[in-house]
Amino acid sequence: MTRMTVIGCGYLGAVHAACMAQLGHDVLGIDVDAAKIAKLQDGIPPFYEPGFPEVLAEQLASGRLRFSSDMADAQGHQVHFVCVGTPQKRNEYAADMAYVDAATTALLPHLSPGDLVVGKSTVPVGTAARLSELVRGVQPEALLAWNPEFLREGFAVQDTLHPDRIVYGLPEGEDGARAKALLDEVYATPLADDTPLVVTDYPTAELVKAAANSFLATKISFINAMAEVCEASGADVTQLADAIGYDTRIGRRFLNSGLGFGGGCLPKDIRAFMARAGELGADQALAFLREIDSINLRRRVRMVDLAREELGGSIVGRRIAVLGLAFKPNSDDIRDSPALNVAAQMRLQGASVVVTDPEAVANAQRLWPDLGYAESAFDAAKDADLVMVLTEWDEYRTLDPVKLGEVVADRRILDGRNALDRDAWRAAGWTYRALGRK
Ligand code: UDX
Repeated sequence: MTRMTVIGCGYLGAVHAACMAQLGHDVLGIDVDAAKIAKLQDGIPPFYEPGFPEVLAEQLASGRLRFSSDMADAQGHQVHFVCVGTPQKRNEYAADMAYVDAATTALLPHLSPGDLVVGKSTVPVGTAARLSELVRGVQPEALLAWNPEFLREGFAVQDTLHPDRIVYGLPEGEDGARAKALLDEVYATPLADDTPLVVTDYPTAELVKAAANSFLATKISFINAMAEVCEASGADVTQLADAIGYDTRIGRRFLNSGLGFGGGCLPKDIRAFMARAGELGADQALAFLREIDSINLRRRVRMVDLAREELGGSIVGRRIAVLGLAFKPNSDDIRDSPALNVAAQMRLQGASVVVTDPEAVANAQRLWPDLGYAESAFDAAKDADLVMVLTEWDEYRTLDPVKLGEVVADRRILDGRNALDRDAWRAAGWTYRALGRK
C-alpha cells in the first residue's frame, strides 16, 4: 500500500485517484477548485464518466480515498501524481504549462526526503528534466518520474485499472532504481496481470504520449481524407475502411470516418507537439501534422455545406435538429467538440438549431446559450426540416426511423458519424446522406 496524492482532479485525476484507492492505496485527491473538491468528497462526480460514480462511492466508503483543496495536506504522502491540464495557449499552438508549473511549485514545500513526484499530464518533451531540477533544488532527496496516461474518456475506469501498457520515464542510476521500486508498488496489481511495462528515460516517456496521440489523429484524418476522395468518385468510405481494416497491419480501429476528432486531447496535443518540435529545430518532421489538423477541421465545414445542400441551397430560417453535442459518446465533454462546432456554425449562419445530448446539454448551454435545447431526440426533431446525428450515442444509433419520421416536418437525415443503418432509414422514407458515401 502506497500513501499518495493525486494533484488535479479533472477527468484524468479524479478517475486516477479513485482507481488507485480501488487498487488498495491510500489516496488524497487535491485540487485548487474547492467546489469540485466538496462535490467529490460528497461522492458527487463533477463530470459524466461511466462506472466512475460507483468506484468513487465505494472508495470514499472504504476510507482509502479523501479529497482536499489544501496542498499542505500532501505532507506525509510518499508518491505525488501531477494530473493537471495542459490546454492549448490562447492564440498559440503551444501547451499552456501554467497549471503544471503552479501545481509542482505549490507541492515543493511539502515534499519529504524519499518522496516521488510523478508527472502524468501531457507535456512538451523536456518538461520532466526541467521539473526534476525544480524538485531537487528544494528537496534534494526527492525524485521525479514521468508516467504518461493513455486513458480514453468513456472508458477511463477500465483503462486505469487495466491499462494496455505502463510507461516509466526515470532518472539515471540509483535514483532511477529507487523511483522504479516505488512505481512498481503503485502498479503492483496491473503488473501482476502481465501488463507490458516500458522503462525508459524522461524524453522518451514524454514523447510516447505525443507520438501515440499523433498516430491516432493521423489514422482518423487518413480515413477522412479517403472520405473526401470517395465523395468525389462515388465510392463508399465505410466499405473502404472495412476492407483495408482486414489487413492486420492496418487494423479497423480508429478508421471510423465522419466529423473527425475533437476533445481535450488529440487536437491540442498535435498542435503542442508541432510547436515543441519547432522549438527543437525539428519542425519539418511534424509538418504533416498540420495537414492532419486541416483535414480534420475541414470535416466540420463540409458537414455544414452538406446541410445546406440538403436544404436546397440555404439554411437560413430552416429548422435543424442536432442529435449529439459531446465530442464523443459516453462523455459530457464538449471541449473542441466537432458536434457543437457544427451546431454553432449553423446557428451563426442563420439556421434555427435545436440540439440535444444525453449528458452534455448543461455544459453546452453554458458555452452556447443561443442554441435551442431539447430534452430528447424526439423533442429536438419535432417539426425539423433536417435531422443531423453528430455524436454516435447508442440511443441515436438505435432510434426508430419510423417513429422519428412521424414528428419531423421533412424526412431528411445527415449521419455525421456513419453510425446509422442506412437501409433502415431509407426504407422508412428518409433521405439519408453521410460524409464519404453516395
Ligand atoms: C484520446 C486517446 O485515445 C487517449 O489514449 C489519450 O489518453 C487521450 O486522448 P479521448 O480524447 O478520450 O482519448 O478520445 P478518443 O476515443 O481518442 O477519440 C477522440 C476523437 O476522435 C473523438 O472526437 C472521436 O469521435 C474521434 N474518432 C475516434 C473518430 O472520428 N474516428 C475514430 O475512428 C475514432
